Amino acid sequence: MKSERANFGSKVGAILASAGSAVGLGNIWRFPYETGSNGGSAFILLYILFVLMLGIPIMIAEFVVGRGSQANTGAAYRVLAPGTRWKWAGFMGVMAGFLILGYYSVVAGWTLEYMARAALNGFAGKTPDDFIAIFTDFSQNPFRPVLWMALFLLGTHFIIVKGVKKGIEKASKIMMPLLFIIIVILMICSVTLPGAEKGLEFLLKPDFSKVDSGVLLSAMGQAFFSLSLGMGCLMTYASYYSKNTNLGKTAFSVSIIDTCVAILAGLVIFPAAFSVGISPDAGPSLIFITLPNVFQQAFGNFPVVAYIFSVLFYVLLVVAALTSTISLHEVATAYFHEEFKLTRGRAASIVTAGCIFLGVISSLSLGVMKGYTLFGLGAFDLLDYFTAKILLPFGGLLTSVFVGWYLDKKIVWDELSNRGSLKVPFFKLFIFILRYVAPVAIGFIFINELGLI
Ligand code: PFF
Repeated sequence: MKSERANFGSKVGAILASAGSAVGLGNIWRFPYETGSNGGSAFILLYILFVLMLGIPIMIAEFVVGRGSQANTGAAYRVLAPGTRWKWAGFMGVMAGFLILGYYSVVAGWTLEYMARAALNGFAGKTPDDFIAIFTDFSQNPFRPVLWMALFLLGTHFIIVKGVKKGIEKASKIMMPLLFIIIVILMICSVTLPGAEKGLEFLLKPDFSKVDSGVLLSAMGQAFFSLSLGMGCLMTYASYYSKNTNLGKTAFSVSIIDTCVAILAGLVIFPAAFSVGISPDAGPSLIFITLPNVFQQAFGNFPVVAYIFSVLFYVLLVVAALTSTISLHEVATAYFHEEFKLTRGRAASIVTAGCIFLGVISSLSLGVMKGYTLFGLGAFDLLDYFTAKILLPFGGLLTSVFVGWYLDKKIVWDELSNRGSLKVPFFKLFIFILRYVAPVAIGFIFINELGLI
């Protein structure tokens, strides 16, 4: 069957674009601070367990719905389950993408500011208190973060309007290898610092006494966020996969790349932090307050190395964030493009304008609009809470129930085996996980995060 929709041109392109979605601020910003505040390597082991047990099966389920329907996320469930209420699951995914981009782009904008500051040697000779002041002044400023956020979204827009093959795929093929090279260089510098062993120990020697239900839930939430699951992002990308793409293998590759980048980010951050005796448990401000200070101190005798290291680190963050904002943007762009028959350019403009609007509100909510709250949260925190803690787990739950219980198993089998041409030894286990393991586990996070237990 020849489809008229856009497609990724190659298997490598499809994998790199999907891995680009998964690898992002979640790996280099969120993973290290979650690991740092949840006791280190025991958290990492649990995280890997959740990736294997829930992440990969749910990713495959998203691939099945995406490629099986050949439609954007908003339409995918409707195509496979016409005339049912499942269409709302797709609609929710589109909304989630839009809302995530509304605050993710604010943090992405911060990475641009920090890249520029690093490039202008703005961190040299600063004290730890200076770094706190720099971040607080900047993030609460009404203009600068807003401008960076808008610039980041315009960059994303520029790639999106070029289309699936010439925009998303091409950008991912350039940026993902670049990202990998940068992170490996940084990792080598970091682990060879004097005193780096303590950081390695923190990463590699599990201390299970620190594990409680909170750590368990954080590890599961991190797996969802980092793998871009629960809102149909990878579903949209899978709708651009060719009919020959091996869905199971692709999900494994994407998950392995994502997990390796997270661990590499840990190998960049922890050895450097421990080598200068700084604890990595600062939380979300870790990469904006603690790290620039760590880099200055760790390479204090070699200012040029400190300079290059800092610049490369923030370039890495910008690149990682961009491949993820592209994927978030594409979910809503594909929806407007296909559902309302708008040109791709017009659809993308609506999404960009809407996200800039949300971005302005979430950025200002950290400064001049601090007093305006809903349920006790400002816009930035509200978007983060509502999407990551409610919409994503709920979306993942719906996808696993849809593929595990509702969808005809013949369709699932056809997609996984490419109409009988591949062996699918894991089929029964896959269905079992979708039917029982995933709904129970996700239901548990969901209830817990809402504070119901
Ligand atoms: N996975 C991305 C990251 O780790 O930064 C964030 C993300 C992208 C979450 C796309 C959800 C999503 F659909």
